[in-house]
Amino acid sequence: MKAPKAPKAPGTCGCACYADAVIRLAAKGDTEAIRALAVEAFSRFGDYGTFLPRYLIDPWVRTIVRVGAGELVGFAMVGLTASRRQGGVLVADILAIAVTAAYQGRGIGTALMERALAMASALAGRYGVDEVELSVADTNPGALRFFARHGFVVADADEGRYPAGQVAIRMSRPLPPSSS
Ligand SMILES: CC(C)(COP(=O)(O)OP(=O)(O)OC[C@H]1O[C@@H](n2cnc3c(N)ncnc32)[C@H](O)[C@@H]1OP(=O)(O)O)[C@@H](O)C(=O)NCCC(=O)NCCS
Repeated sequence: MKAPKAPKAPGTCGCACYADAVIRLAAKGDTEAIRALAVEAFSRFGDYGTFLPRYLIDPWVRTIVRVGAGELVGFAMVGLTASRRQGGVLVADILAIAVTAAYQGRGIGTALMERALAMASALAGRYGVDEVELSVADTNPGALRFFARHGFVVADADEGRYPAGQVAIRMSRPLPPSSS
């Protein structure tokens, strides 16, 4: 009898493509995993392990998670906010996007971003919103490059400071047309 194939350990296949991997809306049971990833990804900027989970109960915010083999390895949060830069005009906002370090560089962030942009378009369309913004720290060149690759351009090179003191850069891009 053929020995059953050992399951590949996470991170050894080069693509992180578990057959059951999905991106779906966050559920109540995801809160602790989102908090843990927020701490891992953002604690150098401030207490985001406390702050970001609050968005999970904000009616203006949608959170998506990327789950594979029972493990949450990424999330993105999209909301509608009044743009300080544009005198209170309503814009879509990518409030946070993160992939756990062991899974970065495999396209998961791109998949989350594409889904987040589609979700932002659906959320924003009925309010006549046509732009999406986000904030990123000046000390985060990887994320700046990632966002530029997804069509974001710098709209304000110094919109304020993160709690830990980094300069916050505001980036924006047009929303893609909504398919819903
Ligand atoms: C920014 C972030 C979300 C990107 O997620 P990611 O999963 O690494 O993103 P991707 O894999 O889609 O793209 C990242 C890089 O991997 C490369 N890549 C994409 N798909 C790939 C694949 N299938 N195989 C190998 N490399 C790939 C891309 O070319 C890209 O290269 P770049 O460095 O030139 O941009 C992630 O780095 C992260 O969580 N960082 C910490 C938190 C953070 O800073 N968030 C942003 C501020 S809110």
